[in-house]
Amino acid sequence: MKDKATLEYQGKKFEFPVVEGTEKELAIDIKKLRSTTGMITLDPGYKNTGSCESAITYLDGEKGILRYRGYNIEELAEKADFLEVAYLLIFGELPNKEQLHKFHEDIKHESHVDEEMKKILDAFPKSAHPMGVLSSLTSALIAFNPSSVNITSEKDMYHAIIRIMAKFPVLVAWTMRKQKGLPLDYGDDNLGYVENLHKMMFKRPNKEYVKNKIVIDALDQLLILHADHEQNCSTSTVRITGSSHAGLFVSLSAGISALWGPLHGGANQAVLEMLEAIAADGGDTQKYMNKAKDKNDPFRLMGFGHRVYKNFDPRAKIIKRAADEVLGDLGIEDPILSIAKGLEKVALEDPYFVDRKLYPNVDFYSGIIYRALGIPTEMFTVMFAMGRLPGWIAQWREMRLRGEPIGRPRQVYIGENQRPFVPLNKR
Ligand code: CMC
Repeated sequence: MKDKATLEYQGKKFEFPVVEGTEKELAIDIKKLRSTTGMITLDPGYKNTGSCESAITYLDGEKGILRYRGYNIEELAEKADFLEVAYLLIFGELPNKEQLHKFHEDIKHESHVDEEMKKILDAFPKSAHPMGVLSSLTSALIAFNPSSVNITSEKDMYHAIIRIMAKFPVLVAWTMRKQKGLPLDYGDDNLGYVENLHKMMFKRPNKEYVKNKIVIDALDQLLILHADHEQNCSTSTVRITGSSHAGLFVSLSAGISALWGPLHGGANQAVLEMLEAIAADGGDTQKYMNKAKDKNDPFRLMGFGHRVYKNFDPRAKIIKRAADEVLGDLGIEDPILSIAKGLEKVALEDPYFVDRKLYPNVDFYSGIIYRALGIPTEMFTVMFAMGRLPGWIAQWREMRLRGEPIGRPRQVYIGENQRPFVPLNKR
C-alpha cells in the first residue's frame, strides 16, 4: 500500500497520498485538499510547492547535484555540445549521429527571419535594453509564423520547436548588433550552431569571420550550464503561460521577461556592475560585504544565494574554473576577476553568509567570461536566455504532452468585506 499523510483539523482527519519521485523526493499530493477539506494551502514564492511532476532536470540543493535527463552537468559540460544537450533536454535522450544531423539540418532550413521583422527592430531606440527587445521580437515572430500558435499535433509541435531553435539565435544576434549600430547579419549554414551564433553576433561588415576555438568552446559550455534548471521563475512562467494553450513563442517571450529581473537571470548583469562599482570605489570588498549584511540597506551581494542550492551551485564551480582558463587562454588580465575572488573568499568565511548558506551562484563568474568574450554587459541576460531556450522548450513540451491543466493558483483574500458604494460627491 502506498504511504499516506494525515491532516488533522478541528477533530477531523483527512488522508492524502504521498508521491515519491525517482530520486526518492517525497511530496504530499493535495489535489483533493480543497474538495475534501474546504481549505487551500498558503505558500508565497512556492517555497514548498511542487507545481508539476517532471522528467527533465533533477537537482539536489543540499548535495549540489544538477542533472539533465539523468546526466551530470559536469559530464555534459565537458563532453557534449550545446545542440546535443538541447536535443537531450527536449526529446529525452542523447541523439545518435543521424538524429543530431537531422535536428541540425531542420534548424538550418528554418533559420531565416522575415525581413519585415527588421522594421520592428528598427522601431526600438538604440538605448533599449536588449532583454525588452528580445522579448518583443520573440512575440512578434508569431505574426510571421501563425501556424506555430495552435499546436494540435506532435508534428506541429516539432515544427514550432525547430523554428524557434533556428530563429532565436538570429534574434539574439540582431538585438546586439542593433545596440552596437552594426548591420544585421544572417548566419552561415556551414558553421556549427554555436559558431554560427557567434558569427552572427560578431562578424564585422568589412572583415572575414575567423573562428576562435577557445571562444566557441567557452560559449558552448556557458550555454550548456544555463540550459535548464527545473521549475525556476522563468520556466514556471513559460509553463503557466503555455498552460492556457497560448503558443510556444509567446510562452517563451513571457519567460524572457521573467528572466530579466535582477533576482533571476538579470543577476549576471548586476554582478558585473557591482564588481565594477567596487573596483571604481577602490576595491574595498569588506565595505560591500557590510552593506549586504545591513538590513537597513537594500543592497544584496549579487551572484550570491539561491532558492534551492544551500551548499554550493555546481554550475558556479565549473564557471569559476572556466573563467580562469578562458582568461588565461585569451591572455586577458581582468582586475574584476580578482575582486570577484576576493569577495567570494570574504563571504565564504563570514558568519552572515555561512549561517544563511549563501554561496556564489551561476551568475557570479559568468559575466567575467562573457566580458572576456567581448559581449556587452547589457547582453549578459540575453545570453542566459539563449542558453535557457532548450530548457524552456522542453518544459513547455512536457507540460503540453502531459495534458496539464491551466495554471491558476488560489489566494487568501485579506481585503475589505462587502461595503456600500459611496458616490463621488460624498467621498
Ligand atoms: N546578499 C545578502 N543577503 C542575502 C542574499 C544576498 N545575495 N541572498 C539572500 N540573503 C539573505 C536574505 O536577506 C535572508 O536573510 P534573513 O534570513 O536574515 O532575512 C536570507 O539570506 C534568505 O534569503 P531569501 O531572500 O529568503 O532567499 P530566497 O530563496 O527567497 O532568494 C535569491 C534567493 C537568489 C533571490 C537571493 O539569494 C538573492 O536575491 N540573491 C542575489 C540575486 C542573485 O544572485 N540571483 C541569481 C540567482 S541564480 C540564477 C538564477 O536562477 O536566476
